[in-house]
Amino acid sequence: MKIIMLGAPGAGKGTQAKKIAAKYGIPHISTGDIFRANIKNGTELGKKAKTYMDQGMLVPDDLTVDLVTDRIHKDDCKNGYVLDGFPRTIPQAEALDKALSAMNEKLDHAIEVNVPDENIVKRMSGRRACLNCGATYHVVHAPTKVENICDMCGGELILRDDDKPETVLKRLGIYHNQTKPLIDYYKEEGILTTIDGTAALEDVFKAIIAILGE
Ligand code: AP5
Ligand code: MG
Repeated sequence: MKIIMLGAPGAGKGTQAKKIAAKYGIPHISTGDIFRANIKNGTELGKKAKTYMDQGMLVPDDLTVDLVTDRIHKDDCKNGYVLDGFPRTIPQAEALDKALSAMNEKLDHAIEVNVPDENIVKRMSGRRACLNCGATYHVVHAPTKVENICDMCGGELILRDDDKPETVLKRLGIYHNQTKPLIDYYKEEGILTTIDGTAALEDVFKAIIAILGE
């Protein structure tokens, strides 16, 4: 099962993608997480990506596309995967389609998690992320058992640099200009489903299971 998650920054793509990956036994591939891991490890890719990410801008397509096409050729992707945060531009979507057709494969589902802009900024200021393992929490909606300590690995939680309100607004603007056109792109491919991302976490997941099957 090959799935892509679409939606504004903070819509809950990562939260739901992790649950999908666990339930269906497929890898969760988040370009944002891959870039953040590279930044943490001080790689060349990380250094390049950081300059864009800190400003809330998109990392250029040429740095992003090869990363994902290499990743989906790995053995653990044989039974599918859930892509989170990719594609994010029409050229990225076209590059993905091209890579997939060269492999004689295609996407099964594009799931749009729909949350209005006015809910987003509020949500992002409450998000906390584990720098060590990438797990995501929310101080109100998805709290950790011990304050500021990751339930999964015991790592310390941070407020992401790009979750400051002014950067979130910029990311939202870029989402509307560059990523929103993908909704029509996948509608035309006949694989788009839109779900209400303002519902409670578990209800959003139930809506996703209804699309993907038990
Ligand atoms: P990325 O890490 O992908 O960020 P994003 O798309 O902006 O999305 P977020 O991770 O911020 O939000 P999310 O939808 O995953 O929400 P989450 O589940 O955490 O990308 C970061 C940057 O990397 C980009 O800005 C760009 O620079 C670069 N980049 C990445 N991919 C790229 C690409 N393909 N091309 C170019 N550049 C790229 O949830 C948010 C919060 O809400 C959490 O606290 C969560 O607990 C809470 N929450 C979730 N669901 C609910 C709910 N139903 N009710 C209440 N709270 C909820
Ligand atoms: Mg995310």
